[in-house]
Amino acid sequence: MRNNIQKIQKYKEEGKKITVLTAYDYSTAKCIDKAGVDMILVGDSLAQVALGYQNTTDISMDEMLIFTSAVSRGVENALLIADMPFMSFQINKNETVKNACELIKAGANAIKLEGSSDLIIETVKHLTQNGIPVVGHLGFTPMSINALGGHKIQGKDAKRITEITEDALKLQNAGCFAVVLEMVPAQGAKYITQKLSIPTIGIGAGRFCDGQVLVSDDILGKYDRFKPKFARQYSSLKDIIYSVAKAYCSDVESEVFPSEEESFALNEAEKEKLENFR
Ligand code: KIV
Repeated sequence: MRNNIQKIQKYKEEGKKITVLTAYDYSTAKCIDKAGVDMILVGDSLAQVALGYQNTTDISMDEMLIFTSAVSRGVENALLIADMPFMSFQINKNETVKNACELIKAGANAIKLEGSSDLIIETVKHLTQNGIPVVGHLGFTPMSINALGGHKIQGKDAKRITEITEDALKLQNAGCFAVVLEMVPAQGAKYITQKLSIPTIGIGAGRFCDGQVLVSDDILGKYDRFKPKFARQYSSLKDIIYSVAKAYCSDVESEVFPSEEESFALNEAEKEKLENFR
């Protein structure tokens, strides 16, 4: 059975760190889930790392639904969160509820949306009152990259930290069950974490958050367009994929693959009949 939002809340109360990773396909989701991660996020980062788009703003609702259902089929234990893509929650509340419900129908247990404008706060209230668990996302919000002027640390001074705290409290009061803090200095994230009763999930926000999230392609070393300073790379899957593909090509070219064991054989009688057709 999948984790629920009550269990995630309890982790904060008990001081147990919450683990979150992104996943975009069935087989990766299955491995990550088996490893015991608490929550899996079908992040709109899939726009860049899985689909090769330039920005997260390029992904559509239809694409998010395909990836959410693929990941969902691989998840047994983790709580599954799906990102609401750009323009799927900024138009009006009814449109947002319709899109959120589609992500839930595709297998998500909760949705995540970026920002804290008045419309977003009203939307979070509307969604949570309609039984849809919501995760907020503050600090660096990738969908606003054009307004923020690039990948920039947010909350560099005490005043800005108190503003992010106010926004996080608004999201909490509107019903969010967790908030992602992206690219916020560690001491700032610590301050926000202490002020909130719901868990903070950090990405580039230091060790004092209640939990951590990373993009799975970053920890696996699969995406090479850029490596964020805050991502720890545990493997270099792109090098492994490269050498496996090289070895395969060499085996085919030198006729080492396929071997007899990797082929289907006719029985002796049928072989003989085939000979006689000549
Ligand atoms: O899209 C994503 O992967 C995210 C994480 C970076 C938190 O929102």
